[in-house]
Amino acid sequence: MTTHSNDQPIPIHPNAAPVAVVILAAGKGTRMKSDLHKVLHPIAGRPMLLHLAASAGALHPAKTVVVTGAGREQVEAAVAPLGIATALQVEQLGTGHAVAQARATLAGFEGDVLILYGDVPLVTAATMQRMIDRLHGDYTPAVVVLGFRPADPGAYGRVIADAEGRMDRIVEYKDASAAERAATLCNSGLMAVRSSDLFALLDRLGNDNAAGEYYLTDIVGLAGADGRASAVIETGADEVAGVNSRGELAGVEGAWQAMRRAQAMADGATLIAPDTVWFAHDTVIGRDVVIEPNVVFGPGARVDDGATIHAFSHVEGATVGKGASVGPFARLRPGAELGTDAKVGNFVEVKKAIIGDGAKVSHLTYIGDAEIGAGANIGAGTITCNYDGYFKYRTVVGAGAFIGSNSALVAPVTIGAGAIVAAGSVVTCDVEADALALVRPPQVAKPGWAKSFRDLMLAKKRG
Ligand code: UD1
Ligand code: MG
Repeated sequence: MTTHSNDQPIPIHPNAAPVAVVILAAGKGTRMKSDLHKVLHPIAGRPMLLHLAASAGALHPAKTVVVTGAGREQVEAAVAPLGIATALQVEQLGTGHAVAQARATLAGFEGDVLILYGDVPLVTAATMQRMIDRLHGDYTPAVVVLGFRPADPGAYGRVIADAEGRMDRIVEYKDASAAERAATLCNSGLMAVRSSDLFALLDRLGNDNAAGEYYLTDIVGLAGADGRASAVIETGADEVAGVNSRGELAGVEGAWQAMRRAQAMADGATLIAPDTVWFAHDTVIGRDVVIEPNVVFGPGARVDDGATIHAFSHVEGATVGKGASVGPFARLRPGAELGTDAKVGNFVEVKKAIIGDGAKVSHLTYIGDAEIGAGANIGAGTITCNYDGYFKYRTVVGAGAFIGSNSALVAPVTIGAGAIVAAGSVVTCDVEADALALVRPPQVAKPGWAKSFRDLMLAKKRG
């Protein structure tokens, strides 16, 4: 099984030769109009560069190098924790020149080099594997290019190949004749090349072309001139969509979400209105989960089998146990852990808190820094007062306890198992198991008072 870049396991068969990955990311990304480097803009809550790195990671590369330029500090900081190397391209002299910057980092590496673009983030591990496999397939091509057929070929480089994908050369749009521009097969930019060929071919690149750049694509023609054929394999246009603007970013986000929704449904979840559900890159959804419309998952969410997420809920850094029910209009923040069959109802916020098996927090409540025992019932409007402006404190509610509506549990405080807290209580001291805590002024009853009050006031008003 292979899946899209959503942190699912992607078992890939062992490669014939070691693989190294070069990711081009020296482009300025001017059209994003952003202080954040283009390749660090998130898709499904994760920088696009890290989506690519995760997919490429499934091929177990011996080495991964990101070629950086403007804004390199940001890129270096993002990939350093992953053990990914960077190589600086001081001046952007073209894609061929960019790949050549990885030479020193790949010194001594012998195997297959996969060239990716940092701003083309949705390429799957399966497609990358197909490129590598093709390098070892029929007539062992010098270069394998990933091609696609966009609805509008626009200014993409055109792949000049026969019907079997045997390729002569790639022509950049600017340099192409009218006949060449009529070709519908375009270059995604992604390539696989043996290390023993790659740097020798790059050494022979010139920049005598319409853009005055060292085109990576020219290595196909150079290999051809040596009598070595290259091959193109095709994929769908969505998979190789690039991001150059905020509009394209939203388009790629949409494509990723569409894939993830389809995956969730294929895995046995019901999405009533799939287009309105937003997943994060690492959301885990079980079988027979029902997700109602307009639910948003932030990073770190897990929903176990049979749970229901009702409409308009936001779930981030939280786990929802088997058969549990969330929302509508609930917010689960990081550290929320709902047990089996637990219920968190409308306008309830839960943060860093365990809601035990079968416990119910049904309405208008804030539970933060807390542990709610199994089967406990938290009445409407209950608030854990967990913060004094300086420090956070814990609230513990024992199993089977009952907290009356509109209670404030002033932490640190512990309510024993089976205890009852009367409605409207402000609880500042621990409550013993099975005890009643009643923290409110006694009710005063004055028979007839209201009527005499009205009579008096009316008389005054009439003068
Ligand atoms: C390139 C391809 C073209 C293909 C298109 C697909 C070449 C010569 N042309 O064109 O055939 O159809 O991509 O989108 O390869 N980059 C660097 N350093 C550079 C130049 C580019 O790192 O000096 C990076 C960019 O950040 C980007 C990628 O390489 O991630 C592609 O660069 P771009 O300028 O978009 O190439 P195109 O001219 O669009
Ligand atoms: Mg481009």
